[in-house]
Order: sequence, then C-alpha cells, then structure tokens
Amino acid sequence: MVKPWMKNILLIAGLYNILWGSWVIFFPLHVFQLTGARLPQYPEIWQCVGMIVAVYGLGYAIAAYSPIRHWPIVLVGLLGKVFGPIGFIWSIYNDVFPLSFGINIIFNDLIWWIPFALILKKAYNANQCSPSVKSISLEEFSHYPERFRAKFINSLSGIKSSNLIGTINDDGLTNLCIVSSVFHLGANPALIGLIIRPDSTRRDTLENIRQNKFYTINHVNESILKQSHQTSARYNESTSEFKACQLTEEFLDNFKAPFVKESKVKMAVELIREETLPENGTHLIIGKIQHVYIPEDTLEEDGFINITKAGSLGVNSLDGYVKGDLIGRLSYAKTDKKTEWL
Ligand SMILES: Cc1cc2nc3c(=O)[nH]c(=O)nc-3n(C[C@H](O)[C@H](O)[C@H](O)COP(=O)(O)O)c2cc1C
Repeated sequence: MVKPWMKNILLIAGLYNILWGSWVIFFPLHVFQLTGARLPQYPEIWQCVGMIVAVYGLGYAIAAYSPIRHWPIVLVGLLGKVFGPIGFIWSIYNDVFPLSFGINIIFNDLIWWIPFALILKKAYNANQCSPSVKSISLEEFSHYPERFRAKFINSLSGIKSSNLIGTINDDGLTNLCIVSSVFHLGANPALIGLIIRPDSTRRDTLENIRQNKFYTINHVNESILKQSHQTSARYNESTSEFKACQLTEEFLDNFKAPFVKESKVKMAVELIREETLPENGTHLIIGKIQHVYIPEDTLEEDGFINITKAGSLGVNSLDGYVKGDLIGRLSYAKTDKKTEWL
C-alpha cells in the first residue's frame, strides 16, 4: 500500500519544516522584515513557533518510514495546515498582517493539503482492508488429501495441550508418545481423559495401558520440544522412545509407569475405563489422577497451577507448538457481578 511518493513527500515536508523552523529560530525578525509586517513585541514566541514547526519536521521524517502506520502524525500535520490559513485569514481581516505575509501560508500549508490528504486516504483504505474470508464447505474439505485434511481439521479445535504419555509393558519395555488430546474430565473424582487413534495399526501406548493399567502424563516444555515431537515417529515395538528420543525415564514413588524426568508438570494416572467410540474407532481413555508433581512456585494460593511458569507448551494442529502467555486471571463469573481481573 505504501507508494514511494508518500515517503518522498513526508521526507521533503520534514526537511522543509526543519529548515523553515531553524530560519525562524535563528533569524526571528527576518520574515517580518521581508514581508513588511509589523515586528513582533516578543520574538521569542515566534521562535517558539519555529521550534514547534522544526520538531514536526522530525515527526514527518519518522512518518516517512511507514506512512500508513504513522498516519496520526500526518493527520495532526494536515490539521495544522488547515487551521493555520484560517487563522491567517482572520488576521488579514483584522489588519494584523499584510497580505504579503501569506507567502508563508502557501509554502507552509496550502501546497501540502493534497499530498497529505492522499496519504491519509491510503491509510484509511489500508486500515479498512481485513483479510478476505475463505469459506470451505464439508463437501470441499472432505476431498482434501488425507494429510492436508488431518492438519486442517486438527487446527480447528484451537490450541491444545501437549503431553507425553509414559507407559510400560509386561516385559518392562517402556514407551513414550506425544498427544494433544488430554483433557480435563472432572475434579472430584480427579479424572483426566485422553483420545488414542483407532488401533488399525499397532498402538503401543494403548496396548501398554491395557496391559498395565497405569500410565503417566508429562507436560512438554521448550527444552524437550524436538525430542517430544520425535516420539510420534513409528518406532518398532521393541524400541523405547525414551532412549530413541533422548528423554530420561524415571520411576517415582513406586508408581508402575515411567515419568519423563525433563518434564516439569507430571502426573501418575490409573486407567478407569476404555471406551471405543463407534463414530470413528478412536479410544477414549478415562484415567484417575493418583499423584501430581509440579514446581513449587507454580502453585498459587487458591489452587491454580500457573503452568506457563513451568514453560508448558500448547500445540496448534499437529506440529505448531505455542508458548503460553498468561494474560491474567478473571474472577468467578456470577450473574449479579461484573467480571473483574484478579
Ligand atoms: C502434536 C501431536 C499430537 C498427537 N496427538 C495424538 C493424540 O492425541 N492421540 C493419538 O493417538 N496420537 C496422537 N499423535 C500421534 C502419536 O504421537 C503417534 O501416533 C505415536 O506414534 C503413537 O505412539 P505409540 O504407537 O507408541 O502409541 C500426536 C502426534 C503429534 C505430533
């Protein structure tokens, strides 16, 4: 949207203002003498005008680098260039200045009206433009190629949690896999849900949970992001992703499944029930939280765990990882009370 002429106009306007302002500051009486106007009683006030004009010049020069973004500087400049001539007409009417003094008005104000107005029009149009909306029907997205569709649909549920599920089979072989489907199911009893893809192919995590009934959920953080993502690769069943992906398994408090040492927020979970969803063959795993490990400083007085302090990451679709940024906490919503920041 930014055209070279817009930048050039603002640069020239900036330079002009600085030069004109400096002239007035250093030779305050010169313009009065040249135009035959009465000399001012307090030239300092006129010098002050020169200083303001010069400082505006600096503003125009800055605006030149991004005229659309800095449109308010252009607007304020144009307003000055409109009100200035109005004041001059008033002073001519009252016989304060000779008409010859108007030479200043022509070069300081009038010649800039059109280019400044055009820059403002461009800025207005640019700010009016919003990204165009793409409308996609079921008919269209159901024909997307498989991988494309998976990422597309997976994006739609918003930012999800990213967790590593730690499991172990009856032979003592550990397994680790990243999931984005862990969700809160209820606080009392403390239930947590997880969705595992259909077992049309081998699903080690699912098999291990079925065998062992115990598993761990470990938040992904930035320091282990690449390793965590790598656990989604299809390693053969005799390979532990802990070892293959350079993550450290640890057993805490005699719990029967491995935790990820590098994870800062982790929990021990016992399988309560598995439900295969008839709609698509995915498995809903309902677990009961047995034990929780969190950094001391993340727990707030009212029970809120500030997981952003622990650096827990979220995920957009299947590969876009996001860092949490806590905007703030809001009060418990009540019909007779306004929501407030805590
Ligand atoms: C960001 C991300 C999120 C994932 N979320 C899930 C999920 O919620 N459920 C699932 O079954 N697989 C999910 N996967 C795929 C598994 O990580 C992948 O299928 C893994 O190989 C399964 O390992 P397993 O065979 O050891 O159980 C996800 C993969 C990635 C990269």
